[in-house]
Amino acid sequence: MKKVCMYYFTGSGNTLKIAKHIQTVFNENGYECSLRNMEDSLEKNDELYTYIGLLFPVAIQSTFPLVWNFVNNLPEVTKQKIFMVDTLESFSGGVVGPMKKILTKKGYHCVGAIEIKMSSSMQRNSKKVEADQKKNVEAVKTASDFAKNLIAGKTRWNRVPILSDAMRSISKDRSIWTKQSQKLTIDHNLCIMCGICKKNCPVKAISDSTGKIEINHNLCESCMRCVNRCPKNAFKLGGKIVYQNK
Ligand SMILES: Cc1cc2nc3c(=O)[nH]c(=O)nc-3n(C[C@H](O)[C@H](O)[C@H](O)COP(=O)(O)O)c2cc1C
Repeated sequence: MKKVCMYYFTGSGNTLKIAKHIQTVFNENGYECSLRNMEDSLEKNDELYTYIGLLFPVAIQSTFPLVWNFVNNLPEVTKQKIFMVDTLESFSGGVVGPMKKILTKKGYHCVGAIEIKMSSSMQRNSKKVEADQKKNVEAVKTASDFAKNLIAGKTRWNRVPILSDAMRSISKDRSIWTKQSQKLTIDHNLCIMCGICKKNCPVKAISDSTGKIEINHNLCESCMRCVNRCPKNAFKLGGKIVYQNK
């Protein structure tokens, strides 16, 4: 049996949507394809797969520290084929090349990488919501085509050495994530203390021990999951409401 294991991380749901479409293409082509959340999958996995996939959002022109942590903790292998898919609003720069560098050192054979434009998980402009939805429709088609090309051996994973490493280095500084997180606030008049945000936070940055929901900005990576899952849309970004990706 041809087997694929795809590890994903998602904040507002875009990457999960793409992962599910790629999974369907694999299944339709006779592969057994499992989908695992990076947050729950840090344990070592010794199984052999036809492909391993890494799927995650772009953040600060790179990706979230927890994704880098996951990749850095992957076991060393011999010629295991691997592919990556990131979803983004417009531009990255610091992820495709640096990730290939880490994976190649660990013995992976990097067979394909693609960046797929989707809605912004931080959308605060009502006028852009419709355009975002259109982008997401197109994104699903791009993802399916990528998966078909992957199976046909027609994909590539290019690396632009110096520039991409320089861009990656910006997001290595924790203070950037803390500063980004400090833009997140909670409207306590709207918050109903349901605890959904706390339960879903991938880095356990949300607490309710003081009787109200609080964000630990030193832990938060601003993935927007809390913002997008809140049933009352009680989170604000830079004082403005975020249009949830539902
Ligand atoms: C903190 C943060 C930073 C982001 N930075 C970028 C960026 O540098 N470039 C870009 O094109 N998109 C950026 N985005 C947009 C997301 O990559 C994009 O909306 C992605 O599809 C979200 O995926 P998700 O729904 O799986 O979380 C950023 C989003 C967040 C939350």
